[in-house]
Amino acid sequence: MTDTQYDLVVIGGGPGGYVCAIRAAQLGMKVACVEKRGSLGGTCLNVGCIPSKALLISSEKFAEAQHDLAAHGVKVGGVELDLKTMLARKDKVVLDLTKGIEFLFKKNKVDYKIGSGAIAAPGKVKVTLNAGGEETLATKNIVIATGSDHVDLPTMAVDEKRIVSSTGALALASVPKHLVVVGAGYIGLEMGSVWRRLGAEVTVVEFLDRITPGMDGEVAKQFQRVLTRQGFKFRLGTKVTGAKPGKAGIDLTVEPAGGGAPETISADIVLVAIGRKPHTAGLGLDRAGIKTDAKGRVEVDDHFRTSLPGVYAIGDVIRGPMLAHKAEDEGVVVAEIIAGQSGHIDYDAIPGVVYTWPEVAAVGKTEEELKAANVAYKVGKFPFAAGSRARANGFTEGFVKILADAKTDRVLGAHIIGPDAGTLIAELVLGMEFKAAAEDIARTCHAHPTQNEAVKEAALAVAGRAIHV
Ligand code: FAD
Ligand code: NAI
Repeated sequence: MTDTQYDLVVIGGGPGGYVCAIRAAQLGMKVACVEKRGSLGGTCLNVGCIPSKALLISSEKFAEAQHDLAAHGVKVGGVELDLKTMLARKDKVVLDLTKGIEFLFKKNKVDYKIGSGAIAAPGKVKVTLNAGGEETLATKNIVIATGSDHVDLPTMAVDEKRIVSSTGALALASVPKHLVVVGAGYIGLEMGSVWRRLGAEVTVVEFLDRITPGMDGEVAKQFQRVLTRQGFKFRLGTKVTGAKPGKAGIDLTVEPAGGGAPETISADIVLVAIGRKPHTAGLGLDRAGIKTDAKGRVEVDDHFRTSLPGVYAIGDVIRGPMLAHKAEDEGVVVAEIIAGQSGHIDYDAIPGVVYTWPEVAAVGKTEEELKAANVAYKVGKFPFAAGSRARANGFTEGFVKILADAKTDRVLGAHIIGPDAGTLIAELVLGMEFKAAAEDIARTCHAHPTQNEAVKEAALAVAGRAIHV
């Protein structure tokens, strides 16, 4: 048992955990954060958001040099891929950022314990140190922020060599000839984009009859069309029923989701991206009497309290979208709740972004959700092709779509497919936080010429008065 009496011990140093630890320290608490990876930043910084975005930008530059610069009158000859340098750059970005969190911990006087944490009893966290030995931390409060892991297909386990999860797909030593991606969600389409741009043939096998379930249907259709033009092949309504070693690497057996004749697809690499599951192994939840739900997620109430007093949970390990910014916001709010303040998150105003080219971003309700809930709504849409900046830049793919309440004009959802959609959505998220009407956005002055003008025009279109279409 250590002598220090902590106010808070956070188990897990991902975006949920490390942000919670820093916010709690800012609020005057004595805080420790336990992380077993040997590096802070969690899935997001180590094997998720950041390395994937590093490879997305690098591969985008490669594709741009090959296909797009000539139209601007910029001639580049002999464009070559140096994959080793591309991967090393990604690793350096990760290292710099994870070390940055260590610096922030020191600055905020958060104790960093490198090891696996388990809940030994209320107010006690046992840490099995990576360096050997054990330490028990006494604490008033515990936050579980242990994140998530990839899901395996029952018919094939990930070996991170031929059958990879996103972690393996971030570190392939060579460009696969044929990459088969199982799952047309966030990971499949982002990592598929990276390797497609670098020259792989990419086939996406998806169980449902559409890509990106949960995304507005019209946007998803356009997204699939754009990716198909980029060379993606889609096998929708298809399930993988088996895998065995083959000439190219792996022979996958697939068949129609509803049943039918099986077929073989040969791949040298298979990326399994069918979702993620909460990570609770080794935490001692059963022993401590902490309840989980049917999906294995730690059950929490509106204040992130688990069934054991003094123990809270946030991020991917609880309900809600598995997104880094959602985990971060919950980290801040739970620290404030523990400090006796009142924190709040509007789960209707959490954006989701797919960082492909073009990007796809959304916040709030989709048309399908509004229809299902019998909400009367108006739609305002504006295509980037009608915008002057998009034309000047040569990035004209996609549109902005705003859904507003038919009676009150309040913005209920917004969906963007287009250049920098992930950045453009921010003004709509802010608008929704402030309960803005579409007219509020339409009457806000937007700089010219910017891509953001497409957001203003879509807001004008809600009232049928867009200027440039
Ligand atoms: P995690 O980041 O998973 O962190 C949990 C940490 O807890 C881990 O480091 C783990 O080692 C540690 N841990 C677990 N158990 C213990 C224990 N018993 N003791 C000590 N430590 C423990 N989200 C976005 O918003 N934007 C993106 O662009 C994006 N891209 C992604 C790309 C990929 C390839 C992947 C896989 C995910 C991506 N995500 C993205 C999702 C994002 O990474 C997660 O939502 C986010 O990391 C969740 O944060 P967290 O703190 O809840 O958990
Ligand atoms: P996902 O939930 O986004 O997509 C999984 C896809 O696999 C779905 O389309 C689903 O229908 C399909 N599927 C499920 N079982 C299948 C099966 N047996 N055969 C074929 N298809 C099947 O999950 P993904 O892509 O693994 O990502 C996990 C999570 O990580 C995301 O939901 C997201 O929360 C997070 N993430 C976020 C990113 C971002 O914000 N840009 C990027 C990457 C991941």
